[in-house]
Amino acid sequence: MLGYPVKHSLSPSFHNAALSHLGINAVYLSFEVAPSNLPDAIAGVRSLGIQGCNLTVPHKAQVLPLLDHMTPEAQAIGAVNTISFNENRQLIGHNTDGIGFLRSLDVLNWQFSRQKVLILGAGGSTRAIAYALAEARVLQITIANRTLQKAVDLAKEFSPLFPEVSFEAKTLQDLQGQSFDLVVNTTTVGMDGRSSPLDLNQLAQIGAVVDIIYTPATTPLLKQAERLKIPTMNGIGMLLHQGAKAFEIWTKQSAPIDVMQRALLQQLT
Ligand code: ATR
Repeated sequence: MLGYPVKHSLSPSFHNAALSHLGINAVYLSFEVAPSNLPDAIAGVRSLGIQGCNLTVPHKAQVLPLLDHMTPEAQAIGAVNTISFNENRQLIGHNTDGIGFLRSLDVLNWQFSRQKVLILGAGGSTRAIAYALAEARVLQITIANRTLQKAVDLAKEFSPLFPEVSFEAKTLQDLQGQSFDLVVNTTTVGMDGRSSPLDLNQLAQIGAVVDIIYTPATTPLLKQAERLKIPTMNGIGMLLHQGAKAFEIWTKQSAPIDVMQRALLQQLT
């Protein structure tokens, strides 16, 4: 894992638990790489004979020109969180955040077809989640952002990629009386444990609320949803499943989800 900072990353704990559970003779390490050193670090990734790596903030977009190939979703999302090698030892960039988010929805028993989704935020996480939901063929994706123009730009960019999905852009204040099957917060609002990006009372009906924040484990948005008796989920599942998908890419084996989840929860407590 390359990031800046990486000290508090939870990924080594659950990847190492999975490697040791399956008896794979490998270790997952994190390296603090300043942005100016990223090209050298990627040259190192090429030359060290390693199996692959993860990338986290602030390298996910900056790494793009340093790679040989990208999956279509990484290309469209414009960010890479996982690197693997092909048979010619060329670097392939993947984005497992979106699929990680989709898999995490399993615990809500959530169906994808004909659903209306509201995503709060228009940054990198929204791009990954919106792409994955659109690929899963939801009916409508509303992107609501503090800066409207960013939501408008993203909706315009993704619309032609998924003609059967309806994209719309709103401000966070422009959602009065609307109903959604799923509300997803990707903004950083709530990390302080005090603020919320949206008053859920302004919406009509809501099927479920997901906040991709996982520290704190519950945010004011999730607490309000719980008071309204709406099913909720935080971002731990997305973190777990994006890692599991990366693990599968590197090892070509099924990830031991239970083992990884136990290690992750232990680390969090
Ligand atoms: P990530 O890659 O995790 O998605 P990001 O690209 O930095 O992070 O995006 C952060 C998102 O949180 C943005 O949508 C940002 O809104 P702006 O586009 O208007 O900046 C949103 N955000 C951050 N602070 C916010 C706040 N105080 N109120 C509302 N939205 C906020």
